[in-house]
Amino acid sequence: MNVLLLGSGGRECALARKLRQSQSLSNLYIAPGNGGTLEYGKNRAIAATDFTAIENFCLENAIDILICGPEQPAVAGIWDYFQKEELKHIQVVAPSQKSAMLEGSKAFAKEFMTKNNIPTAQYLEITQDNLAHAYQWFDEKSPPYVIKADGLAEGKGVVLPESKEEATKLIDEFILDRKFGASSAKVVLEEFLDGLEFSVFIYTNGQQYVMLPNAKDYKRRFEGNKGLNTGGMGCISPVPFVDKALMEQVESQVIKPTINGLQKDSMPYTGFIYFGLILCQGQAKVIEYNCRLGDPETEVILPRMDCDLLALFQAGFSNQLESFNPEISHQSASTVMLVSEGYPEAYEKGFPITGIENVHQANVFHAGTTIKDFQLVTNGGRVLAVTGLGENLKEALFNSYDAIERIRFKGMKFRSDIGFEFEGD
Ligand code: AMP
Ligand code: GLY
Repeated sequence: MNVLLLGSGGRECALARKLRQSQSLSNLYIAPGNGGTLEYGKNRAIAATDFTAIENFCLENAIDILICGPEQPAVAGIWDYFQKEELKHIQVVAPSQKSAMLEGSKAFAKEFMTKNNIPTAQYLEITQDNLAHAYQWFDEKSPPYVIKADGLAEGKGVVLPESKEEATKLIDEFILDRKFGASSAKVVLEEFLDGLEFSVFIYTNGQQYVMLPNAKDYKRRFEGNKGLNTGGMGCISPVPFVDKALMEQVESQVIKPTINGLQKDSMPYTGFIYFGLILCQGQAKVIEYNCRLGDPETEVILPRMDCDLLALFQAGFSNQLESFNPEISHQSASTVMLVSEGYPEAYEKGFPITGIENVHQANVFHAGTTIKDFQLVTNGGRVLAVTGLGENLKEALFNSYDAIERIRFKGMKFRSDIGFEFEGD
């Protein structure tokens, strides 16, 4: 089978590695890919949102399966684009544009959850027309407040102000100054939920689904969960406090109602769903939906799946997901992100990366790297994800951190406390 994978991050590097191991793979192309995906397939300089170029490439290279890694092409409608007659023979792993609204619009997701009785925080939708209701909300409720830009904002669209004054200033910036352009013309205010966060993943064809390993990511830049939010500084899987009873609750109260909701509203879905959850006094509530795998979550989920990824996709296309076994390993996985100095704010790129060849007990997934003059160099804020596996979390973490000691680039930074709160578990 010939496969085209869209995206360029650590998630796509982990997907490319897993696809390369598939029995039925012939050619693997990644558009645009990065310095690490080259090891598993051929990179092509096509933007993941350039649908015309993607169409031409698919037809010229007899692509059988198109896999969408990131959210932007999904929200822009890649699945719908491939429904046209001349592209219909190509199988697409992506949600329809309407389904991708679960990630593309926070207000849409809240409405979907409310309508389908899926546990989530109370909320209020705000635009310029009812801005006064937001000020009233800040008067009536106590901080912290939760303000979310409705549309995609590269992980920066959620703020948690600690005072009424700050909340008022921020909502004005979102709505009146359009801090995130059209994405913040509408915002969602949410009740603040206090609890432990974790994430659950499924692969679905819109009717049936397969449960994938759960994970917990570390979003803040610095140790002790301090500093700015990032795309993710590290991740662990499985999550020690998520037991069988909690997973059963999530399946019956969140996953099944979500699948039923997709069917009721005629929302075609072929792909991964990422449920961002928070456990509040024994009750799991949905914080967000993502219509894709997470990054760096993928870098701990896929290494724990011993199944053939193309076989999983085929089972979805042929309605056999219910009997598909993802062969989830009992091992623990951890990944630690190596980032550029300054990230998530301004940083420099282009520094040579050395030492990866000396890593033997971990997988090094490339996130922001490229090849320049035959040399691997940094090319993003998040540069490498170093994944260790082990019989328990402690062993997995040892393998991640031991590997990191062998890798070097100028200004290399990482969090030294990924997963440590659970090490004794
Ligand atoms: P989101 O992009 O919606 O996942 O939000 C980003 C982060 O903001 C989450 O991972 C949480 O840490 C935090 N957050 C979002 N919504 C809430 C909420 N209702 N209560 C508390 N924290 C929240
Ligand atoms: N790590 C969070 C995300 O992929 O959205």
